[in-house]
Amino acid sequence: MADTPASYSMQEYLTAKRSVDDRALNRRVLDRVTTFLDERDAPDVLEVGAGTGAMVARALAWDLLPDGTAYTAIEIDPDSVALARETVRAAARAADYRISEQAAEEVRLVRDDREITVTVREADAFAFVERAERTWDLLIGAAFADLVGASAVERLLGAVPDGACYFPITFDGMTRFHPAADPAFDALIERRYHATMNDGALGSQAGRRLVSELKGAGWDVPAVGGADWTIHPTGGTYPEGEGYVLHYLLETIASAVDDQPDVDGERLEQWLTRRHRQVTDGELLFVAHNLDVFGQHESNGDRADAA
Ligand SMILES: C[S@@+](CC[C@H](N)C(=O)[O-])C[C@H]1O[C@@H](n2cnc3c(N)ncnc32)[C@H](O)[C@@H]1O
Repeated sequence: MADTPASYSMQEYLTAKRSVDDRALNRRVLDRVTTFLDERDAPDVLEVGAGTGAMVARALAWDLLPDGTAYTAIEIDPDSVALARETVRAAARAADYRISEQAAEEVRLVRDDREITVTVREADAFAFVERAERTWDLLIGAAFADLVGASAVERLLGAVPDGACYFPITFDGMTRFHPAADPAFDALIERRYHATMNDGALGSQAGRRLVSELKGAGWDVPAVGGADWTIHPTGGTYPEGEGYVLHYLLETIASAVDDQPDVDGERLEQWLTRRHRQVTDGELLFVAHNLDVFGQHESNGDRADAA
């Protein structure tokens, strides 16, 4: 992802996009993930690039984590880590958990039917995985795989040698705004924006490339599904602050392409002003194509097949 645009907050963006992801997540793929967790006794889950804690909060709210789950969320940005810790506590209370023990990084959550431990740690995910002298059952990286290269994914998979991986909301090559005011320029911006993602990372085709990389590394990919973002206004307003997501994405895209030689600066400025106004007026429809990918190590798949 490009740098945070000036005067916009990454944390506010990540918080606002939670409802977009809630709608987008592919339920068929998610079912495979929850089945995998339910078949493990007290599963250990590792989430990398956890942002402001949206995925763990969702997992608590949607009862995705079985009794005994130990969930470790790793995030490199300290502001996001602080917010993620608050988000986890709020989500736990909303899901009727009692916080039985808490330390700076860890909370123990108790409800009649289950006990769950959540740790939110500030760390570089790669250094954390490499230093850890242990493994996990499930690796989660939400909206993360497009940011890193194939070898980086492989390093992370070392954390789940006998387990599974779940990469939801993995960008896969389409960013569209409607209505189109200047279709040729829209198309140029989309092309140039996607090109800026590809510098050593899985990038603009991360979803499909991830599937190939997993298979090439000896993993089964039992479930892949579309998880497109659709943000649209109803009656001139966007739900739950999703207008902020759009303003943030517009700034991110504009700042990613503004030094490209064939992107005219003045035309880009006009494009950006018009698109921001369409958001403010509640007129802009946005669609981005993502894939949710669930992989299992082959040995693990054999065991599940044999069971
Ligand atoms: C696009 S955001 C997604 C956040 C969250 N998973 C979500 O979907 O809301 C990517 C996140 O990965 C974090 N990140 C990037 N590189 C990282 C690394 N090496 N270790 C840990 N976190 C990292 C960023 O700080 C950011 O919060």
